[in-house]
Amino acid sequence: MFKCIGICSVCLKDMSIFQKNNHNFLKMPDMDCKKNPPFLIILVTSHRDQIKTRMAIRETWGKERIVTDKRIVTFFLLGSTSYDGNAVMVESLVYKDIIQKDFLDTYNNLTLKILMGLEWVHKFCPQSSFVMKTDSDTFVNTLYLTELLLKRNRTTRFFAGASTMHSHPVRDPRSRWYVSKEEYPWNKFPRCCSGAGYVFSTDVSSHMYIVSQNISFLKLEDVFVGLCLAYLKIKVETLHSEPVFFVKRIEFSPCRYRKLVTSHFVTYTEMLMYWYGLEKSRDEECSGGHP
Ligand SMILES: *[C@@H]1O[C@H](CO)[C@@H](O)[C@H](O)[C@H]1NC(C)=O
Ligand SMILES: *[C@@H]1O[C@H](CO)[C@@H](O)[C@H](O)[C@H]1NC(C)=O
Ligand SMILES: *[C@@H]1O[C@H](CO)[C@@H](O)[C@H](O)[C@H]1NC(C)=O
Repeated sequence: MFKCIGICSVCLKDMSIFQKNNHNFLKMPDMDCKKNPPFLIILVTSHRDQIKTRMAIRETWGKERIVTDKRIVTFFLLGSTSYDGNAVMVESLVYKDIIQKDFLDTYNNLTLKILMGLEWVHKFCPQSSFVMKTDSDTFVNTLYLTELLLKRNRTTRFFAGASTMHSHPVRDPRSRWYVSKEEYPWNKFPRCCSGAGYVFSTDVSSHMYIVSQNISFLKLEDVFVGLCLAYLKIKVETLHSEPVFFVKRIEFSPCRYRKLVTSHFVTYTEMLMYWYGLEKSRDEECSGGHP
């Protein structure tokens, strides 16, 4: 139950309306997709304790914005912890960008977190055009991503991202990525995408959410998504002729970052630095190749 402090008389009233039709979501963004659907929804896996990172993302690439009259919104996917208290509730009331359900927020529940995001889009925002899934240590160039999606001009059964490092199951029980033969009997994983960033047309999130119930659960998010896509016979495509999704960290330079969609393993201070670096150099020309 919610313990209430000052501002909560408002939230309790909201909550009672809210809980009637929330499909077991503890928290959801306050958005009417029927009226004003976003073009792109970015779903960021996060954890209760990463408040500084969420603030940096809200201030930089995750800021709600309009790019060539397309609206982009960013939401955070959270599980729950035994010590949630009021902090997440207050944060959710202030920023209205948290999607949360009642499952333990652990690495081994990452697939549940992704499924929660897909479920939310499927039930509450199927009117959007594209969805991106990314991690909270990824820098996303939302402007370039939007440009590329518009140029690519695909509206259904589209999925793009960078290859994952998980190409076959690790059978050593001591490994973080251990997968038993019972969970997955085959020796190779379908080729799919690193959780650092992939993007898909919104219909794919409904398809994946629906077929996920028919696919044996794997804690490896990227592999699970790959299995859903294989089941649906949806191929991973490229977004651009050049690589734009990077699973590693790319050294920052404004010209380099203008032409990428994701750079991984970026701290929140780096996010702020890169973002303001990009903004500051907006009017500068980049000569041919990257400096
Ligand atoms: C996943 O969440 C469920 C529900 O809270 C919990 O019972 C389970 O222990 C969690 N699994 C792992 C592997 O952490
Ligand atoms: C996008 O594709 C549709 C058909 O699939 C076509 O009618 C439209 O002109 C295309 N738009 C652009 C900008 O290429
Ligand atoms: C899931 O599997 C069952 C039994 O094989 C089948 O009847 C059903 O159509 C499948 N559902 C989806 C969404 O593929």
